[in-house]
Amino acid sequence: ETVEWEAASYDMGGHDTYMHKEICEQPDAVDRVLRGRIDDRFSTVHLGGLNLDAREARTIRRIKILGCGTSYHAGLIGAGLIESMARIPADAEPASEFRYRNPVVDPDTLYIAVSQSGETYDVLAAVQELKRKGARVLGVVNVVGSAIAREADGGVYVHAGPEVCVVSTKCFTNTVTAFALLALHLGRIRDLSVTDGKRIIEGLRKLPSQIEEILKTEEQIKEIAAEYAGAQSMMFIGRVRGYPVALEASLKLKEISYIHAEAYPASELKHGPLALIEPALPTIAIVPDDDLLEKNRAALEEIKARSGRILAVAHQPQAKADHTIVVPKNEDELDPILMGIPLQLLAYHTALAMGRDIDKPRNLAKSVTVE
Ligand code: AGP
Repeated sequence: ETVEWEAASYDMGGHDTYMHKEICEQPDAVDRVLRGRIDDRFSTVHLGGLNLDAREARTIRRIKILGCGTSYHAGLIGAGLIESMARIPADAEPASEFRYRNPVVDPDTLYIAVSQSGETYDVLAAVQELKRKGARVLGVVNVVGSAIAREADGGVYVHAGPEVCVVSTKCFTNTVTAFALLALHLGRIRDLSVTDGKRIIEGLRKLPSQIEEILKTEEQIKEIAAEYAGAQSMMFIGRVRGYPVALEASLKLKEISYIHAEAYPASELKHGPLALIEPALPTIAIVPDDDLLEKNRAALEEIKARSGRILAVAHQPQAKADHTIVVPKNEDELDPILMGIPLQLLAYHTALAMGRDIDKPRNLAKSVTVE
């Protein structure tokens, strides 16, 4: 059984597809998740529904994030944000896997369930099992009042607004931004300095206008997509913060274009997938200007040496890449929020060039409310 959205009840606002509309809505959507939450006085954020006071926040020893599909990928980025800002060990796992492996439920661990719909059965069942065992569970959810939001002890609404297209775009971006807010909040209760808090807040405030900038690269992306539309397969690579961005971009491409895609940490190439590299397999590389830039460039060289075609998403043109989509630089921690957006457009235009049914890809439903 699946839940179908009443697509006809939502206005397309002049766009040809809901996906396109939802991609273009991201500056406003991100503005909404930030609105009313920033506290400049203490360089932190207020999250009204968290139900976790400062004393409790200080006792958390570990954070485990659970979600499925795109929400799991948002959770992976969220775990990285929490580790870097709050210095709490954090990781993400598909909720479906977690449920079936009889996990050790630890009283000092905070569990976070991530879901756009708030109705995904695997996530809901994981939450119910955790609650039954006495764990504290927060929700990072889009749909207000949904089952997961109701079951959770508290949480953060991501305020992306209704998402109609089966594949998630704006909700992913808003969920990651919501995790940045949560990481900042926890960080400022623990060891994140005022200066770093300010730096992150300035970065958060820049996001909507930087997303506007990225949306202006659509024509360039469309041309690149026309070149890649015939590919049998594509490789997505990134390192550390960039790896979940690669995972999500690869899922987006698979879901709507039906092109096979793999996502790997760039550091793993030499341990196997380099064998796949040849001119017919394009690589999409996430190459931020951060402490791993030289490492990422070395991976591009390895691919070029094997005549692989490369599209880089980077903060500056990459000499080894056939194409670079240049995105604006933010704080290192927040860069992943921006770097996924051009790849939503790449998936979109690739699928469009292939004549796919973008808003309703085959075999998929917006919300999977059964096992
Ligand atoms: C998103 O593009 C997918 N269609 C899918 O992976 C989705 O993210 C997943 O089913 C989880 O849904 P949820 O966020 O509503 O829980």
